[in-house]
Amino acid sequence: MANGSTTMEKIVALCKRRGFIFQSSEIYGGIGGFWDYGPLGVEMKRNVKDAWWRDMVTVHDDTTAPAGAPSPYGMVGLDASIIMDPQVWKASGHYDLFHDLLVDCRTCKARFRADQLQTSECPRKPSKHPGEHTDCDLTEPREFNLMFKTTIGALHDPSAEAYLRPETAQGIFVNFKNILSTARVKVPFGVAQIGKSFRNEITPRYYTFRSREFEHMEIEFFCAPEESGAWYTYWRDRRFAWYTSLGLKSDRLRLRDHSPEERAHYSCGTADIEYAFPFLPEGEFGELEGVSHRGDFDLRSHMEGKLVRRDGDLVVDTDENGRPRHPGSGKDLSYFDEATKRKYIPNVIEPSAGVDRAMLAFLCEAYDEDAIPDERGVPQERVVLRIHPRLAPIKAAVFPLVRKDGMPEIAGEIYRTLKRRWNVFYDEKGSIGRRYRRQDESGTPLCITVDQQTLADGTVTLRNRDTTRQDRVKAVDLTAIIEERLMVL
Ligand code: GAP
Repeated sequence: MANGSTTMEKIVALCKRRGFIFQSSEIYGGIGGFWDYGPLGVEMKRNVKDAWWRDMVTVHDDTTAPAGAPSPYGMVGLDASIIMDPQVWKASGHYDLFHDLLVDCRTCKARFRADQLQTSECPRKPSKHPGEHTDCDLTEPREFNLMFKTTIGALHDPSAEAYLRPETAQGIFVNFKNILSTARVKVPFGVAQIGKSFRNEITPRYYTFRSREFEHMEIEFFCAPEESGAWYTYWRDRRFAWYTSLGLKSDRLRLRDHSPEERAHYSCGTADIEYAFPFLPEGEFGELEGVSHRGDFDLRSHMEGKLVRRDGDLVVDTDENGRPRHPGSGKDLSYFDEATKRKYIPNVIEPSAGVDRAMLAFLCEAYDEDAIPDERGVPQERVVLRIHPRLAPIKAAVFPLVRKDGMPEIAGEIYRTLKRRWNVFYDEKGSIGRRYRRQDESGTPLCITVDQQTLADGTVTLRNRDTTRQDRVKAVDLTAIIEERLMVL
């Protein structure tokens, strides 16, 4: 896949044309930072989430240490509510600290992120950066909290104020004791969660990359403090390998360790998994996932109250009377290790990924243009999405070559048989070449065609999206063959 805005425009156009992604509320002019996933997009997005859940949770073996892991570990899941007690966000630090600095222009009334003035555009013509027109009048940077506010119940006073969660992680921390006492897990173990998060981004941009509503796939992994370094290394490598296993193989993917200055005040180590999205300037990468070593910051915050770093130590932030500025729950979230008879607050390793960014990276990586011969042998340009079969929205398409001689009936039967297992598409309209190309653009790995020979010997053609090679296989063997070729479960 080539770099550049042209490529990005083509990908955006394809996503619209084939029903992957639409602008939210498009018929009313659209709303910035919100996106709808169309019929193909929703299938692919579900496949991304299913692959993550399956690989991280469902097939995880609690009894054996995976390659690179210091020991066996447990994995369980959670689905916490989006709106939580506002005290959660006060103790976690989001209420005070989850903000960006914004700058307003008094002349054109546009709003910019203070750290993006050099990459933002003033809405006025000719095109310039904010502050570069002679009459631009920018304010000093001001803090802007990114949490969306809402109210609970009929009263609209401050006591009814609540927030849409900006991350799923806190739902896991506040359920730590519930999970420990019900799931028969022992430290080390991880809790996985997929769900919507909301951030009132000042400048949503780059298509779905920075949205105001998006989905997180997060793991909070609880371990003993002395093992936390080894677990951090395990998770950063494991999560990087997950992306390569699903097709992000090129040099456009990288793992980047944060420098100590770049890390959040509670972090003992952070690495980003990054992808060179085509909308970024050559050589620049955008974050797909952050893997952080958070120490005991999160559980302690929900025990003691909001923590701040003072003289190198994390201490409870206090008001002028010496009381916690934002008290925690007061509940004991420490862990008693039966084997060693030791009590401690577990450390947390957090691999935190964005579903929408992962999907965008998979789409960008998959986009390709080549030329293939048509029915008369004349090369025709085609657009093909070389999506990993596990992520492809449609796994196979079934076509009767012509709409007669009993071919639609046989194709229909094959379609119905395969449909019990996979998302399969039936199409009998248009030339066979056009039907193939439509599926190539949709990323469908296999096409099955019922033709004259099928009537004689029960075989069909099985066409490979990437090579366009066609094999003759027995129709009765299709389920087994597709299972093997797709590597899907
Ligand atoms: N709990 C930690 C946390 O939320 P983060 O780096 O803010 O960390 C994790 O977010 C991931 O969520 C990012 O790597 C990115 O994939 C995704 N993400 C964050 N903000 C986003 C946004 N505005 N739009 C789309 N995805 C976003």
